[in-house]
Amino acid sequence: MTPGHVLVFDSGVGGLTVAEALRSAAPALQVDYAADTGFFPYGDKSDAALRHRLPRVAKALFDHVQPDVFVIACNTASTLALDEVRAALPCPVVGTVPAIKPAIEISQTKTLGLLATPGTIRRRYTDDLIEQFAPQATVHKHGSLDLVELAEQVAAGMKPPLEAFAAAQQPLFDADPEGAMDVIVLACTHFPLVVEQLRKSAPRSLAYIDSGSAIARQTLRVLPTTRPLAAPSDGRAFVTGGDADYARLRAVFERFGFSHLEEIGVSRDLTSPEPATKAAGE
Ligand code: DGL
Repeated sequence: MTPGHVLVFDSGVGGLTVAEALRSAAPALQVDYAADTGFFPYGDKSDAALRHRLPRVAKALFDHVQPDVFVIACNTASTLALDEVRAALPCPVVGTVPAIKPAIEISQTKTLGLLATPGTIRRRYTDDLIEQFAPQATVHKHGSLDLVELAEQVAAGMKPPLEAFAAAQQPLFDADPEGAMDVIVLACTHFPLVVEQLRKSAPRSLAYIDSGSAIARQTLRVLPTTRPLAAPSDGRAFVTGGDADYARLRAVFERFGFSHLEEIGVSRDLTSPEPATKAAGE
């Protein structure tokens, strides 16, 4: 049994796919969840705004929840501000990055699709990962915020039409007219929530891969082992306000085993970056 207390963090409900992977890897773990609903979605925010907010919101959550490990279950945040969040927190921080390495290992054709938020698609971090792990591969990329919203709807029990999922991934197939692409990397933690809809609406059959189980393994690796074993209590979910529909969120969190929902007050200055933090080139 693995003792310990982990806080899984995302902009919305996408990180629930990582929380599930963690629970199945280590059922004795205390897993809490935090969604930055006050700044959702991350995929269309400027780098400067996210760099400003992420370490501060992470610190506010850490102070309130006091986890042993903080998991950023969000590619959009991790590919930009993992170092800043690590510097702000006194505990191990695990990030989520696109599963390029395992994808290229299973690809026969060395042709991948990368489906992510527009933020993750344009990051240098993502290009560096491709350069490092798949330098000879062809990687077709597409950023979709529509798919983030569709995943939020599915998590809330709604059933958007399959055509919406087909449209969200079609640009990857348009970029690959010869049909060489054999693996699509789901590089947004929201997307595994709709992998069945993606499979059913794809023009042909291919593999989809995400980072959930790798993040779970890495979390267990960095978890301090000196704490006494405690039986896990029900998971708690924390949100940061905004226009979130609380009835809908409560239902989603309960379905994923988080029976307690609490809003954490975060200060207003978290939303507006000082001019000095603006990234060059933005
Ligand atoms: N779940 C997040 C990710 O992994 C992003 C969703 C959003 O745009 O907020 O990238």
